[in-house]
Amino acid sequence: MNSIFKDNDLSHIIEADRAHVWHHLIQHKPFESTDPRIIVEGKGMRVWDQKGKEHIDAVSGGVWTVNVGYGRESIADAVREQLVRMNYFTGAAGSVPGAQFAEKLVEKMPGLSRVYYCNSGSEANEKAFKMVRQIAHAKHGSKKYKILYRDRDYHGTTIGALSAGGQDERNAHYGPFAPGFVRVPHCLEYRRHEQDGAPVERYGEWAADQIEQVILAEGPDTIGALCLEPVTAGGGVITPPQGYWERVQEICTKYDVLLHLDEVVCGVGRTGTWFGYQQYGVKPDMVTMAKGVASGYAAIACLVTTEDVFTRFKDNADDPMNYFRDISTFGGCTAGPVAALENMRIIEDENLLDNTTEMGARMIDNLRVLAEKHDEIGDVRGKGLFCGAELVADRDSRDPIAEKQAQAVVADCMAQGVIIGVTNRSVPGRNNTLCFSPALIATPDDIDTITDAVDGALTRVFGWFIWANPVTLHSDHVLRVPRQPIANCTG
Ligand SMILES: Cc1ncc(COP(=O)(O)O)c(C=O)c1O
Repeated sequence: MNSIFKDNDLSHIIEADRAHVWHHLIQHKPFESTDPRIIVEGKGMRVWDQKGKEHIDAVSGGVWTVNVGYGRESIADAVREQLVRMNYFTGAAGSVPGAQFAEKLVEKMPGLSRVYYCNSGSEANEKAFKMVRQIAHAKHGSKKYKILYRDRDYHGTTIGALSAGGQDERNAHYGPFAPGFVRVPHCLEYRRHEQDGAPVERYGEWAADQIEQVILAEGPDTIGALCLEPVTAGGGVITPPQGYWERVQEICTKYDVLLHLDEVVCGVGRTGTWFGYQQYGVKPDMVTMAKGVASGYAAIACLVTTEDVFTRFKDNADDPMNYFRDISTFGGCTAGPVAALENMRIIEDENLLDNTTEMGARMIDNLRVLAEKHDEIGDVRGKGLFCGAELVADRDSRDPIAEKQAQAVVADCMAQGVIIGVTNRSVPGRNNTLCFSPALIATPDDIDTITDAVDGALTRVFGWFIWANPVTLHSDHVLRVPRQPIANCTG
């Protein structure tokens, strides 16, 4: 850590923040009497706040983003060099790093070949929705315009993306939404008892079949695309049940429905393969990605398509409306692709995909061991370094614990210097899944430190002695009125 704390008084920064910054996804009333948290520095897996307190970051910047860890000088150097040579030109023209990264990216995505640059996950998803709509108008007499999305999935914050939003608390009060988006049921096996008719056997196929039912009810000639997260993130870290993806693929082929996979969280290593869908052998038509593409060193998002999708936008050059009439001003920034190139080199050279698989397995094992000790852990799920632990009040009924208790666990970990996440303002009554997504560089010690912290937190929040001795263990550790989590696990 640099010596910013020794030489600088940050009190002015805190006051400026309190007076003028509108933070994301957080209630500001408490900041009238407590300081907002400011993260000042980061190195590897660790960050330091304004008090100089060190934290191990188990959520990669709060929202599964900083895949290669903090303080990567080689990315900063590459970005600097690029910016002084050529920082920006509209995406109607090409750029050197844009071409280089696109070439490298599609090498990792057999079957896909075209990269459309923009600057956020929401925006990338909007681009995909627009492509589906334009294809519908041009090729299907305007009929195949509907986009299916899944209960508990999230695709972004804009009104268009929220129209495909399967998290009702995230959507609440922001409607009315855009027409032409239709919800299909979730595939969370742990909660199949809440779904009418869900079987114990072959649940995955059943869950996929529910998509077909929706297609048939709406009319297959009206459905243009199905948009899914390979592993649902902020909706509860939902890994797909066995047999699900095979059936989804069959259904899409059968009804000529484009498969759009939202890899904004899973993409670029998070699950231990370059992309989450590659864990399941799926063949998408469109893939969107953002967060981990450049690990937050620059804003970049991509929509990657097959050549077949691309061709539909140039096959009638006499028609002045035939091409994709879309622009993203900051999609022309060169910092994004140059940072993404270096990010990818680091993942390759440091063998981080394998590390993710190994450390992810260790984290799941550790969480399962904790589940033997703590009845509140009802289910442990995950793929690679993308893990969740669903907390329940009762293992038989699977009733979720109170949201405040889940937040108290997060607050306790924070007090111990470990930042974990929890699903938050997502699915009503289901904000009860702890989220873990450390950087892909995590070591066995890091993983054990994280799960040890959870062990301690569960013991204190649910153990007998805390109610006997509701002591404030640390200055920001208030179990009865927990601080709001800074790792909100959106998405
Ligand atoms: C799966 C998923 N898709 C899309 C988004 C939106 O990305 P952004 O916040 O970059 O717009 C998120 C953000 O959390 C996400 O988790």
